[in-house]
Amino acid sequence: MATERTLSIIKPDATRRNLTGQINARFEAKGLRIVAQKRLQLTKAQAEGFYAVHSERPFFNDLVAFMISGPVVVQVLEGENAVAANREIMGATNPANAAEGTIRKDFAESIEANSVHGSDSAENAAIEIAYFFAQTEIVG
Ligand code: PPS
Repeated sequence: MATERTLSIIKPDATRRNLTGQINARFEAKGLRIVAQKRLQLTKAQAEGFYAVHSERPFFNDLVAFMISGPVVVQVLEGENAVAANREIMGATNPANAAEGTIRKDFAESIEANSVHGSDSAENAAIEIAYFFAQTEIVG
C-alpha cells in the first residue's frame, strides 16, 4: 500500500448547504488526512483551466458556470491509496448510480451539482494539486 495524495474539491452545491464539515468528517473517518485546504471563489478562467480536458464535451459551459456559482473548498487529501480511497468515499459521478453511504448518494443533487470532485489517477492528482497549491501550502 502506498501513501498518496489526491486533489478534492467541495463544490458550490455543498458549500451553499453548509456541508463542508460533514464531508470532511467522512474523509477523516476513512483515514484520509486533509493536508491542505482553502476556500475559493473560482474565476471563469480558473474553472475553464481546471476542466480543460472536458472542453469539447457538451456540458462544459454548464460545468464551468456551476463551478463559479459559489465558493468551493479545494483540498489535498493524503492516505493509503488516496486516489482510489477518495473515489470510493465520493461514489459514482451521477448520484443516481452512487452506492449507499457515499457522499454523492447522501448529498449530491444531480450529475452537475454532485458535491465533490476527486482526481481520477495519481498522475492527474499531481497536476490538479499543483493547479491550486504551492508545495509550501501542503503540510503533511
Ligand atoms: S468522470 O468521473 O470524470 O468520468 O465523469 P464524467 O462523466 O466524465 O464527468 C466529468 C465532470 O463533468 C461533470 N458533468 C457534468 N456537468 C454538468 N452537466 C452534465 N450533464 C455533466 N456530466 C458530467 C461531472 O460532475 C464531472 O465533474 P468532476 O468535478 O470531474 O467530478
